[in-house]
Amino acid sequence: MSAHEFVEYPHDRTDHIDLDHHPDIPASWTLAFDVVDDPDDGQRWSTWLSVERGSRGPEPRPGWVVTDEAAMDTELGILKTGKEADVFLVERGVPGDDNRRVVMAAKRYRTEEHRSFHRSAVYTEGRRTRRSRDARAMAKKTSYGRSVAAGEWAHAEFAALSRLWAAGVPVPYPVQIDGTELLMELITVDGAAAPRLAQVRPEPLLLASYYDQIRDAMGVLARSGWAHGDLSAYNILAAGDRVVVIDLPQLIDIVGNPQGTDLLLRDCRNVCSWFRARGLEVDEHDLFGELVARSFGG
Ligand SMILES: Nc1ncnc2c1ncn2[C@@H]1O[C@H](COP(=O)(O)OP(=O)(O)OP(=O)(O)O)[C@@H](O)[C@H]1O
Ligand SMILES: [Mg+2]
Repeated sequence: MSAHEFVEYPHDRTDHIDLDHHPDIPASWTLAFDVVDDPDDGQRWSTWLSVERGSRGPEPRPGWVVTDEAAMDTELGILKTGKEADVFLVERGVPGDDNRRVVMAAKRYRTEEHRSFHRSAVYTEGRRTRRSRDARAMAKKTSYGRSVAAGEWAHAEFAALSRLWAAGVPVPYPVQIDGTELLMELITVDGAAAPRLAQVRPEPLLLASYYDQIRDAMGVLARSGWAHGDLSAYNILAAGDRVVVIDLPQLIDIVGNPQGTDLLLRDCRNVCSWFRARGLEVDEHDLFGELVARSFGG
């Protein structure tokens, strides 16, 4: 029997039950049961209940999040390899129950030696590492230190997504964080992963609507004092008539980070130049001015 077919009490393996002496089981019964196999390759028990406190996404939780103890995670394949992380498709579902299954994006941060790009220290200025032992390990670049660094980025992105989702910014819902793996809502169009903005050519009305949505999202960020820090048409998904902002580990404190305003201006330039190339007359300095004013409470 495969783990797929198992529907009851996966964590409570039945092979240790002493049937002859169990108080709830009449002696006349014959109990048929199978011992649950270990998960197949590419499968694991859902990690939902095993992650640390504070590692699950904000409430109210969307109804599609699968929280069942009996759920299994199945690796469906890689969606995209990035510069510092790989994004996989993971299905979490209760075997045998088609109503309790969902495909999510699993972003797995790589340890530094496996990256093709290093986030510059610009982004980490002012960020504190949670444990001093970890800070020392990161500074020494031990392999433990490198995995802490990857975990720090994953946690930073989880925290950013959680805040922004709660603030109403269009970002994927962060389901959970577990070490270097961030599980989040998979943004789809017609059942497939949504394309990046850079890959689409929206007609003029939709183009203008996309711009308004991005300006609003940047405005909500700015009002909280933040800039994305790596915003471009590559880190925005075109999900039908809406856009969704992704890739947020480096959320910037506009005032607290010495390069905050430069990074905000770069975000504005990246966004506006893409829209201008598609035919929408927008100006990065207007956008920048508006966002700076917002960050000061305007
Ligand atoms: N929640 C999601 N839903 C759909 N697609 C996603 C999601 N998250 C990431 N992707 C896809 O995976 C790609 C890489 O994700 P992301 O930008 O977060 O990682 P990255 O390591 O910074 O990658 P890159 O180096 O390409 O910027 C995205 O461009 C997008 O195509
Ligand atoms: Mg990216």
